[in-house]
Amino acid sequence: MKIPGQKPDPRTLRPATQLVHGGTQRSQFGETSEAIFLTQGFVYESMERAEARFKGDEPGYVYSRYSNPTVVMFEERMALFEGAEAARATASGMAAVTASLMSLVKAGDHVVAARALFGACLYVVEDLLPRFGVSSTLVDGADLSQWRAAMRPETKVLFLESPTNPCLEVYDIAAIAAIAHDNGSLLVVDNVFATPILQKPLALGADCVVYSATKHIDGHGRCLGGVILASQELIDTHIHAFLRQTGPVLSPFNAWVLLKSLETLPLRVRQQMQSAERIADFLSGCQHIRLVRYPGRSDHPQADLVKRQMRGGGTLVSFEFAGGKAAAFAFANQLSIIKISNNLGDAKSLITHPATTTHQRLTPEARAALGVNDGLLRLSVGLEDADDLIDDLGAALAALDQHGLAAE
Ligand SMILES: Cc1ncc(COP(=O)(O)O)c(C=O)c1O
Repeated sequence: MKIPGQKPDPRTLRPATQLVHGGTQRSQFGETSEAIFLTQGFVYESMERAEARFKGDEPGYVYSRYSNPTVVMFEERMALFEGAEAARATASGMAAVTASLMSLVKAGDHVVAARALFGACLYVVEDLLPRFGVSSTLVDGADLSQWRAAMRPETKVLFLESPTNPCLEVYDIAAIAAIAHDNGSLLVVDNVFATPILQKPLALGADCVVYSATKHIDGHGRCLGGVILASQELIDTHIHAFLRQTGPVLSPFNAWVLLKSLETLPLRVRQQMQSAERIADFLSGCQHIRLVRYPGRSDHPQADLVKRQMRGGGTLVSFEFAGGKAAAFAFANQLSIIKISNNLGDAKSLITHPATTTHQRLTPEARAALGVNDGLLRLSVGLEDADDLIDDLGAALAALDQHGLAAE
């Protein structure tokens, strides 16, 4: 209950309010919208004040690679909404993934990750970490016995994304966090596909959450960004020093864009998800499409787990043409509103053929193991009217029939 005259604790505010007001620091001008502090450095009134600031005896900013007021507003808003003690923003989602993993391990350590990772994350785990003496094991993320079997005394970090890209598999975050903690390890979750609206990995037991803010958090296809959320201790002892000294930090301008986007995140994700649900139902009734994967449908293999750990099926739908690559290409080439792009989480609906784009670096065997077949398309549902999107999909399917392109 609000006590008259007393400022409410922002943690007690409801989520939509936190996303509009959380973290706001007004300058002496009392601006309504958050200010962009597009500055590299800060000036001091005296040498003594500079010395005190550097020693940490006086609070304040020193240099924008360490921290910046606009970036801090974004970090605080994200931390508040995620329910995390602390957050650090990064230049991109990959900077968040790389910084969180690199700062938690040292030579001789071991990382276990789900095999179904975004391609660049797979590079970090499989190629980059081993160069610095950190070994890794990839497991089928849905099989808890594989996680357990992969644990070693030197396993420091478990890493997964859920739902996965592009097959939208869902992993049991609470169970995998328990496996990590039994072994004295930490669980890092890439929560991009679920968005902070639909899934809270920290509340499920994860130790660290990373986002590509480039996706739904920006939501308008404009700027790259990322964020790492964890306990104050983890941020202070590992993440902050790594970012401050190596420099993959978020620019104040991009932080401002992302701050403004957070204000509308719940509205956008809810709307995009409603359309995705309708589109998944529409596609599952269509000839030529042999499989529709959507976490919000009752035919999803982990439908019960989705109900337990997510607040909805998300904004992405994957579907597979019986006619393989030829049918998938012919279909996507007929779309007019839905654009061909490997990006996701945009207000514009985007479709991609993972086997020839995001997952083309993998061998055909590795793709097959992940279920990335040649007929698979991934649709990121945007903010257009769902009826227009369904008309676009329907017209492209009809064109396949007309030209005899759907055959297996
Ligand atoms: C699941 C996932 N993690 C991480 C990233 C990397 O994000 P960014 O492109 O912002 O570096 C992406 C997308 O690019 C992604 O889809």
